[in-house]
Order: sequence, then C-alpha cells, then structure tokens
Amino acid sequence: MADHSGKQWWKEAVVYQIWPRSFKDSDGDGLGDIPGITEKLPYLAELGINVIWLSPVFASPNDDMGYDISDYRAIMPEFGTMADFDTMLETAHCLGIKILMDLVVNHSSDEHAWFEASRASRDNEYRDYYIWRDSSGHDEAGNPLPPNNWVSEFSGPAWAYDEHTDQWYLHMFSKKQPDLNWENPKVRQEIFDIVTFWLDKGVDGFRLDAINIISKPEGLPDDPAVVPGKQTSSIPFVIENGTRVHEWMHELNAQTFAKYDVMTVGEMSATPPEEAIQFSGFTSDELHMIFHFEHMAVDSDPDAGMGKWSRKPVDLVELKTILNEWQTKLAGKAWGSLYWNNHDQPRTISRFGNDSPEYRERSGKMLATVLHFMQGTPYIYQGEEFGMTNVQFEAIEDYKDLDSLNMYEGMVRQYGTLTHEQAMELIYAKGRDNARTPVQWDDSAHGGFTTGTPWIGGNPNFTEINAAEAVSREDSLWNFYRQLIALRRGELQDLMVYGGFVPLGEDDAQVYAYERTGEGEKLLVIANFTDQELTRDFGLGEGLSKVISNYADDAGTTLRPYEAKVYRLAN
Ligand code: NOJ
Repeated sequence: MADHSGKQWWKEAVVYQIWPRSFKDSDGDGLGDIPGITEKLPYLAELGINVIWLSPVFASPNDDMGYDISDYRAIMPEFGTMADFDTMLETAHCLGIKILMDLVVNHSSDEHAWFEASRASRDNEYRDYYIWRDSSGHDEAGNPLPPNNWVSEFSGPAWAYDEHTDQWYLHMFSKKQPDLNWENPKVRQEIFDIVTFWLDKGVDGFRLDAINIISKPEGLPDDPAVVPGKQTSSIPFVIENGTRVHEWMHELNAQTFAKYDVMTVGEMSATPPEEAIQFSGFTSDELHMIFHFEHMAVDSDPDAGMGKWSRKPVDLVELKTILNEWQTKLAGKAWGSLYWNNHDQPRTISRFGNDSPEYRERSGKMLATVLHFMQGTPYIYQGEEFGMTNVQFEAIEDYKDLDSLNMYEGMVRQYGTLTHEQAMELIYAKGRDNARTPVQWDDSAHGGFTTGTPWIGGNPNFTEINAAEAVSREDSLWNFYRQLIALRRGELQDLMVYGGFVPLGEDDAQVYAYERTGEGEKLLVIANFTDQELTRDFGLGEGLSKVISNYADDAGTTLRPYEAKVYRLAN
C-alpha cells in the first residue's frame, strides 16, 4: 500500500486547464490546435503554473467536443498530428511543465470501432463492450419501451434503441456516447492498455472523466427521482448505487498509475466528502484527488427539479459551509482539488464575483485569493487568469454546446416547461459555452485567437479584456495570479500547501475568512464578497505582515468592496 500522507509534487502543483478547441489557433481554420498550445507554453511558464490538464485531443466526431472519443491512440486531425503532440510534450517538459491527459472511459464515441462492431450483431465479440438490454415492453402503438426510466445528463432517455438488433444501449450522456461495460474484463484490459500507451509516451497523469459512474446499479432498476418533463439526470442515482467502482479504481491504479510517478484526479459530481476519502485517501491506492461539485450547485434551486438549469442567489454562508467542510473533512486523510472554473462551468467572476467594469478585476482577485490559500491543488481555467467573463449570444443557433441545445429543445420546444426568454436567461447564466468562447489574447481581430473565422462567436469585450493588456499592467489580475502561484510554489509553500485550515466567522454572510496554521506562524485570509463597505475586527495586533491584497493600502477594520487581504502572523 502506498502512503501519500507526506509531501508530494502533485500537492505542490498549480494546474492550468486547456480546452484546446478555444485556446489558440495556429493555422487559421478557426479551431484551436496543438501547435497553438506549444506556441503559448512560454506564456504559461511565465504565469508560473507547472501542470497542464489538457482536455481531450483524441480522434472524435465532436458531438460533445472531444468527450466522445473514436480512437484513444490517435490525435484529432483538426488539432494536429502525433508529431505535434510529441513536440508539445517535449517543449512543456523543457519548461518544467507536466501534462495530464483527459481519460474519457466511462463511454466512447458511437463511432469508435468497438461500438461499430458491437452494434453490428448480438453475438459478435464486442457486443459486451457496451451495455445492451431488451425493451421493457411496448406502448399502445407497438413502439418498444426502454429497459428502465433513466434520464441522460444531456436531457431525454439514457437509452437509445437500435432497430437492427432490436435492443437498447445505455448512454448516460449523449446518444453518441455509449457507456462502456466495465463489468467486462476485456474492456478493463483495453483501458489499461490505452493508459499505458500514453504513460509510455511520457505524459504525467490523467484527469478521469465521469469516473464515479462506471459501475452501474445491479439489475439496472428504475431511478425513483425521475420526473417526466423535468431535467433530472439519473447520474446521481448511478453514483449512489453503483457497487464496483472502488474495486475497479484499485485495479486501474495497480495495473497502470502505480507503476509511474504520475498525478491523477477523478471528476466526481455528487460524491460526498466521506466517499471522496475512499477514492483519494492517502493510503487508498485509487486516485490522488477528486473534483467535487458541491459548490457548483449553490446557485441552482433544488426545488425546481431541473438540476443546474435553475437559479437561486448565492448564499455565502452555504458556499462557505461547503468549502470549509471539504477542507476540514479531508484534512489529514485525503487530498483535494480547488477550482472555480472549468470548461463545463460559467465564468467565475460573472457567477460569484462582479463582472461590471468597476469590480471585475477586484472581485476576480478576491475569488482567486480565497481559493488559492486553501488546502488542495488549485486549478486555473484558460482565461480565468486575466478575468474572462460570461457571454450572451442573441440566438439559440449561436450556441454550440449540446447540453444547452438539448435543454432548449426539450424544455422549450418539446415540453413547453420554459419560454424562450427563460431558457436563454438560464443559458446565459449556466451554459457551458460561457467557458468555451475563444481565449482573448489581444485586442486584434477575434482577440488574436485565429486569423480565420472562429468556430464559435467570441466575447465582444476582448478589446478591454485580453491577455496582452493584463500581462503588461503591473496591477492586473494576471499579475495577481502570478503572485499567488509564486507564493504557493515558493516562500509560502509550507503554509499554503501543508498548513492546517481553521474557518473563521462561519455565520458571516458577507465575509469569507479563515486561517492556515503552521509551526509558529499562520496566515489570515479575509475576503469581502460584496460590493459594500463593511467593518470587521479580527483583533489584529502587532507583528503581522501583509502577504498580498487587492487594494494598494490597508484600511484596517474597514473592508472595501471585494477587498481581499492576507496577513502572515505569529501562531
Ligand atoms: C464531463 C466533462 O467535463 C464534460 O465536458 C462532458 O460533457 C461529460 N463529462 C461527458 O464526457
């Protein structure tokens, strides 16, 4: 049994996520690509990150933008070649940057050769690579009915009927993402071989997509939470009732990761801290850390029964309770990951901060401070480092993400649960395309992302909000991120990475405050989450020094709008 309770490089890392399609286009076809990433590696080195999580670059028909893989050993031609990939990896390594691949093995694409063989007949050797079942019966018109009532994450039934073999296959995401059958040892072996292929190439680890849903509840019973006409994904039901996931994580670890010095992080919606400890405990031999989703739900209304497609004002006490609990429950037992953003979430400044010109950077710095001083490995999503914001396209046709498009189709056109205006408001607030508009590199056409026509519209605010401007200005959000990263990877590593976590003022609905405690000294983090001027007395005496702040001066017990400050003091 490995013991990861001590110091580890992946605990000390700062990760930057790249979603390649919108990162940087090198050849003018309007799509980001691998040579574009290589070109920008020095920019990332300057920012100070030392690990990249690369969203999928494998061959894919792009129904779900690369999260539907048709060949796990090939690079998507639009993104470049395997030689381009090798160059990127080598260049990154020369700059001291490691690269994590995105392992999407709960499902493949329906265009993967395994699925093409699987669907060809009931008795071919690939049939059991996927989850096929008979109809549960027929409706009055004689149409076959799905094996159970499960709803996919992207709206509609989680089963697709295949006329040719008169059976249904399971897809927890889109129809073009059939779930792999992990019960089949041959499937597991294929996956171990794929992982080993990339590890032998020299990649430094993996982010594992939707990995907590690989084990399906025995007998595939109905999901009691499903309500027709509502967006109630059956994923939480699968997570709660699948029984073999830990067994398979052990097996995957023993067969692959454990043989290399790599970092692993599992994507796990609906997994509570108690179970996270089983996945990422210091002696669990499964994964190094997971992404939990709890704080991503604080602006959704659970009573609406629509999952993320609902809204409620953020209650800071609720947000703090969630984040503080993850800090304290994992402490000394398991490692965590820290994020505000990724390619599936709206932009954090628009969501938890304030994206008005007056407060955009100030609130961005405040959010970054709160996150980067916590225990865990922080993740920065492309564009976050200089404060990109949500976008509002006029027409539903301007959107590209099937999650938003399916929701609109189901809720507006099919069921009439929402009006067009209501659906667009939800997409503006929650849609994944908020995170997927092209990175705004400078103020030239298309924000310098491409010389061609971008695959998705850009955010028109690129003339003010762009990387070049932020890099060149000393007091920018970009330079603030750079400082935070430098502190964590340098002078304050012991406290920021390994120090204890003590929440303060847990009932305060306006201010987030906590301490990080070490031998003889500690850090005090104070953040005003509002646009109001507040007064808070933390009883600060002598002998303290300011580590970082988003205001040039210190107003003592007065906290100005979105003010964040960190002190170092004796413990
Ligand atoms: C989680 C990924 O982050 C998301 O982008 C994707 O749509 C689903 N898993 C399915 O792979």
